[in-house]
Amino acid sequence: MKTVTSPTIVRTGEDIRQVVHDAQRVGRRVGVVPTMGALHQGHLSLVDAAREHCDLVVVTVFVNPTQFAPHEDYQRYPRELDSDAAKLAQHGCDYVFAPSVEEMYPDGFETSIDVGSVALPYEGERRPTHFAGVATVVLKLLSLVPADAAFFGQKDYQQTLVVGQMIRDLNVPTDLVVCPTVRESDGLAMSSRNAYLDEDQRQRATALSASMQLAGRMVDRGERDVATLRRAMESHLAEVGGVDVDYIAFVRAGTVEAVETIAGETMVLIAARVGQTRLIDNMQIG
Ligand code: PAF
Repeated sequence: MKTVTSPTIVRTGEDIRQVVHDAQRVGRRVGVVPTMGALHQGHLSLVDAAREHCDLVVVTVFVNPTQFAPHEDYQRYPRELDSDAAKLAQHGCDYVFAPSVEEMYPDGFETSIDVGSVALPYEGERRPTHFAGVATVVLKLLSLVPADAAFFGQKDYQQTLVVGQMIRDLNVPTDLVVCPTVRESDGLAMSSRNAYLDEDQRQRATALSASMQLAGRMVDRGERDVATLRRAMESHLAEVGGVDVDYIAFVRAGTVEAVETIAGETMVLIAARVGQTRLIDNMQIG
């Protein structure tokens, strides 16, 4: 029978740093999975990957105020630490680092990390302060949890590029591991924000992944023109209805460089509002 042990919840940076140093001192490899909680199977797959590659697994749970604009959902973002800890116990997580806002941003805090061009288009254009908030909190988390490897989901494609840039530029001694997006059986990418969708919106939201799959099939059949692919995606989304497209972008894989023709590994990125809920997703095509 599998033994299930609840992870130890740690509240202060000093304590979690000690845990990590003690483990590394005796040669244990430490993995960290940064999250904002409200954990779903996507997060848990990152924990499984960390468990597979590391000896000690730390999950951080912190709803980071600096990555939300004033009109966004910071206040109503789900906070469910007890049920998160119960889920993590089933996946072999050793420690949960769940600091308070005051622990992370004490009075007088002023620094902000600007990673440059990778943070500017797409999400960066719509959410101008978002990636500085992400880069700053991830750098802080990796200073407090100086893990050997940090596990992030491909679902937040541009975020993985931002974190990668920050890690490289600032010589952070942590390997970035990007794991595949986990999807519901109907293709919807798992996201904590899916909980905001009512039944009808939840159905319509599958159009995001379906439209990207449609583009993927067209590329497999030989279509190379991005304008044609975008039009096909837009008509699929319009047919489903109730999906207000923010952007559809085709970029060279591993970058945010837009392409006009498919000539190699390409990512299609989509952001759309379904009701009040803003969803993002991406897929590799070509
Ligand atoms: O992807 C998230 O949940 C957040 O952006 C992260 C990386 C935990 C930083 O707050």
